[in-house]
Amino acid sequence: MAIMRLGRVQIRVPNWEKSVHYYKNVIGLIETARDENHVYLKAWDEHDHHSVILEKADSAGLDHLAFKCETAEDLDIYEQKLIEYGVEVDRIPAGYRIAEGEAVRFRVPTGQLVELYHEIDVVGNGMPLVNPDPWPDGLVGMAPPRLDHLLISGDDVEGTTKLFQDIFGFRIAEQLIAEDGESKIATWLFKTNTPHDVAIIKGPQGKLHHIAFWLDDWTEIRKAADLMGKNKVMIDAGPTRHGITRGTTIYFFDPSGNRNEVFCGGYITYPDSPTITWTTEDIGRAIFYFEREVNERFTTVFS
Ligand SMILES: [Fe+2]
Repeated sequence: MAIMRLGRVQIRVPNWEKSVHYYKNVIGLIETARDENHVYLKAWDEHDHHSVILEKADSAGLDHLAFKCETAEDLDIYEQKLIEYGVEVDRIPAGYRIAEGEAVRFRVPTGQLVELYHEIDVVGNGMPLVNPDPWPDGLVGMAPPRLDHLLISGDDVEGTTKLFQDIFGFRIAEQLIAEDGESKIATWLFKTNTPHDVAIIKGPQGKLHHIAFWLDDWTEIRKAADLMGKNKVMIDAGPTRHGITRGTTIYFFDPSGNRNEVFCGGYITYPDSPTITWTTEDIGRAIFYFEREVNERFTTVFS
């Protein structure tokens, strides 16, 4: 398998105090460490030290996304494959970030920095590994059990899609095809067994459309919407359902202007799952199945 999952996103948050408060108390992530310019957070059911790093910055956006690999040797193998593919690769030394080992870093054709890592401290999910309860005490906010996926934008959707397929063995669960019947406007890619670990859409180069946290069911989505009401979080769209992935969803913004999503549902993917194709005439239903139209903000605001 080699790449096991989307393990980490590092998000730039200019509205620092409010953003840290929001990710800890409204989203409900758990702080595991901090330094002068970063706060390290994890979702409650993740065992690794962190999955979200907030970075004090002048502008919002994605610093990088990172995939966790199964072994340290995977880093060497992928590094070699990337070099042979013509991609420039850097090594990030162990200890560069709190609780992390070495990482391999490269840039994808849509402009985002991507890292591969294996070593990270394991802190557990707050419950014993023998005879545990279903959830730990002390959860606050939406309390997602895990980081789920992200959607990135750029010019060369086909280039990044192909790199993820060729080097890492990602597969296309769904794709949105242009009117020429061929070129890809967006792809939803999986390496695990969800409809997407990462998605890529044609848009501003090197930007983030959203990061998504998993919630277990529709009732949790409704509770998340209640918390957005209570905390005056700016909602972009939803609660609703996607045609693409069939998941239920709400899109909303953090206090720094990065779009977040809570997502649940969808289907299981396998290596032999066929690719589903959407055409532009049905884009409304593809994105928001109930409304059957997409608001302008959703297609124009990136961070
Ligand atoms: Fe999403």
